[in-house]
Amino acid sequence: MSARSSTSVASPNIALAKYWGKRGVPGNVPATPSVSITLSGLTTRTSVTFDDDLEHDVFVLGGNETKGTPLERVTKLLDELRAHAETRARARVVSDNDFPTASGLASSASGFAALARAATKALGLSLDDVALSRVARRASASAARSIFGGFVGLGTEDDAAAMPLASSSHWELRVVVAAVTTSAKPISSTTAMERTRTSSPYYEAWVADAPELAREVREAVLARDLERLGVAAEASALRMHACALAAGPGIVYWTGRTLELIETVRSLRKEGIAAYFTIDAGPHVKVLCDARDAETVELKLRPLAVRTIITRPGEGARTMDEPS
Ligand code: DP6
Repeated sequence: MSARSSTSVASPNIALAKYWGKRGVPGNVPATPSVSITLSGLTTRTSVTFDDDLEHDVFVLGGNETKGTPLERVTKLLDELRAHAETRARARVVSDNDFPTASGLASSASGFAALARAATKALGLSLDDVALSRVARRASASAARSIFGGFVGLGTEDDAAAMPLASSSHWELRVVVAAVTTSAKPISSTTAMERTRTSSPYYEAWVADAPELAREVREAVLARDLERLGVAAEASALRMHACALAAGPGIVYWTGRTLELIETVRSLRKEGIAAYFTIDAGPHVKVLCDARDAETVELKLRPLAVRTIITRPGEGARTMDEPS
């Protein structure tokens, strides 16, 4: 086989209803349903070249050749697609984010979504978006959602694939990202959610409660009801973190700044601005608001953050190759 290449871009997503915990069946299946927004203006660009002359996969992330767990996760995804394509060719994967890694945005979601799309194309496989989303899910469940744009849901069934809920033009919502530190998070979400599952006394309650919140989030998105969405999204984030805090040893992603930002969002609401926070597996705070309030919200958060970015609903993973 000669060298076969493809390049794709994908954007990170932020979960409004959180996935936290795995069912324990094969294939990285979430224990809780989730709903997310794919964010515009932030992209991971990934090129994949399969080449018979390579002895092993190579993964270059942000200009640096990367080994260990990140390379193993890339190889695992490629192995699945190689099996489909009946090839043993190794690949060179080059991936770059156009947003700062310190922004607290889920680069693994956009990274695995872009990788799945590019590798599939490079191998000449014809997988539809649902099948592609399953491939991405097995690598990282949040990546399944970044295959699609706009508002996206992911379930808990054995062969779970993300499903689009509404397009990016459905709602002029804004997500103001307030990154509070440039340090890497202390524990990966994969490790943290497994520790939560095995040691938090609140885990069963979290899993039992999450579907109702996901339903609420879905209905609020479809109705474009910001207050309803915000109340449910804050509850999902707080319950996820409460469950993780109660693990042994406790998982504390927040810093003092995180709490100050929560307080600021609540004071914005007292001033009559509809702003609601959500927090993933890290200290950074993402704030949902109407487009017309985004600059006011951003100005208020800015003094507490190392960086703020105003984002909006964006597009799913797509191929960047020239038409042949
Ligand atoms: C808090 O998708 O990173 O962002 O499937 O183990 O790769 P793995 O985990 P990952 O977890 C995301 C957790 C979260 C919530 C969410 O995105 O739903």
